[in-house]
Amino acid sequence: MNKDSDRPSNVVWHQSTVSRKLREEKNQHKSVVLWFTGLSGSGKSTLAHAVEEKLYQQGLNTFVLDGDNVRHGLNKDLGFSDQDRKQNIRRISEAAKLMLEAGVITLTAFISPFKQEREMARSLMPHGDFIEIHCFCPLEVCETRDVKGLYKRARNGEIKDFTGISSPYEVPVKPELRIDTNTLTLEEGAEQVIALLRDRHILPEGKIK
Ligand SMILES: Nc1ncnc2c1ncn2[C@@H]1O[C@H](COP(=O)(O)OP(=O)(O)OP(=O)(O)O)[C@@H](O)[C@H]1O
Ligand SMILES: [Mg+2]
Repeated sequence: MNKDSDRPSNVVWHQSTVSRKLREEKNQHKSVVLWFTGLSGSGKSTLAHAVEEKLYQQGLNTFVLDGDNVRHGLNKDLGFSDQDRKQNIRRISEAAKLMLEAGVITLTAFISPFKQEREMARSLMPHGDFIEIHCFCPLEVCETRDVKGLYKRARNGEIKDFTGISSPYEVPVKPELRIDTNTLTLEEGAEQVIALLRDRHILPEGKIK
């Protein structure tokens, strides 16, 4: 059962009386999806968690949906074929959308290499609620970092469909933000993300330093 037309007619949407707006008012900040994308080792997780920590310390409601963690549970039945990567992103997007409705500042850290999937994720959210952040870092640098030893294994042919080596990464053409993690410090990168949230009035006025 995977097509809209297959959905039984007895599945009916129940409207919540506690709206997103009410939740945002209670939280005293808006919710948003910060969608980090980039090569493995480009710094998505590091940056997303650094931003989350800063926001959390200021009392904001946050959550990071991180690639490997989600693959341990919700998406543990999925591999890395093009089809499974698409399904991975589809489920994460839906999860992120639920968190947006729940009033949470949601940060996602997935390679999400395909433009079409990122656009699909964006199209699920109300306009302006999806902020695409490209963690840019040259492949050679990511490969030198090789945080998880995956590039080495991919070069040895032990991992197939590895982004940047044997599977493409489609560079975002117009992300809301592009952060060069090779030249900026982690602190500078995190500050750029927070500045964007401030500019867009997602954070409460004067609260976030
Ligand atoms: N300015 C920076 N911003 C973020 N990370 C940086 C920066 N400079 C160096 N690094 C380092 O780069 C590495 C990035 O690894 P990280 O696990 O965050 O990548 P990732 O994009 O989440 O990869 P994956 O897709 O495999 O999960 C970390 O070891 C981090 O300390
Ligand atoms: Mg990561």
